[in-house]
Amino acid sequence: MPDVLIKKCLFPAAGYGTRFLPATKSIPKEMIPVVNNPLIQYGVEEAMAAGIDSMAIITSAGKEALKNYFELNEKFEQQLADGKQLDQIRHIIETCNFSFAIQEEMKGLGHAILTGAQLIGDDPFAVILPDDLCYAPEQGVLSQMVDLYMKHQCSIVAIEEVPQEETNRYGIIAGDEIEPGLIRITDMVEKPDPAQAPSNLAIIGRYILTPDIFDIIRDTPPGRNDEIQITDALLTQVKQSGGVLGYKFNGRRFDCGTPPGFLEASNFYFENQLY
Ligand code: UTP
Repeated sequence: MPDVLIKKCLFPAAGYGTRFLPATKSIPKEMIPVVNNPLIQYGVEEAMAAGIDSMAIITSAGKEALKNYFELNEKFEQQLADGKQLDQIRHIIETCNFSFAIQEEMKGLGHAILTGAQLIGDDPFAVILPDDLCYAPEQGVLSQMVDLYMKHQCSIVAIEEVPQEETNRYGIIAGDEIEPGLIRITDMVEKPDPAQAPSNLAIIGRYILTPDIFDIIRDTPPGRNDEIQITDALLTQVKQSGGVLGYKFNGRRFDCGTPPGFLEASNFYFENQLY
């Protein structure tokens, strides 16, 4: 067995969460609970299940609740010493190392990832967008991707088929299927209109990135919506190395960045007692 090479996971969580206003005036979107666990906790647990214990969270001013959540709280610890409800979060805090960086301006996902460069260093790393909640009972989605990384040693993005009329909500890829469910990417476009989309294969919020991506992002100009897009940086990586893979993961994704997706996830997690 090779050493586990992916040791850190980056969580971009600096966005304004405008689709959840007014709640997100004072509650970070990532702290809104699906049943009783904050959304970000499911992402951290998925990273832990992939063998990762170093979590780097990108936040912004006013989102201090995220940092507080991953610290022991004396008051609760003393008053609820036997509180079963705190066992899991206590275990997470004791097992994992958390670091934080502030994204001063919301200049896009690529920029948020670059903000984490110092926290990550010079190793390949994982990225989880906490608002994509992934349910995969046999093996977590990130764990599936870490296994693939061990074999292919290149950047990997999780993809899924979306209805053609929704391509303008995602980064869309095109490429050649090299084995079932695994695509060597040749093209990528951020939020293309359905008529211009090269496929209906959308990138969802799970990535494994090689650290050369940081220099590439530094040289990536603002793209769609005037934001620095990770999709544009990954396309440069495709052209430079030819080795970026799209992976049709096993599992079900809930788009918790929108109220309908959040509600669907909440119902599913409640009905199946997954909290
Ligand atoms: P979204 O666009 O879905 O999140 O970005 P948002 O901006 O918070 O939500 P809306 O659109 O205003 O409702 C996907 C992920 O990338 C992070 C977000 O926090 C979210 O987890 N992100 C996005 C950043 O950290 N920084 C950015 O500049 C942009």
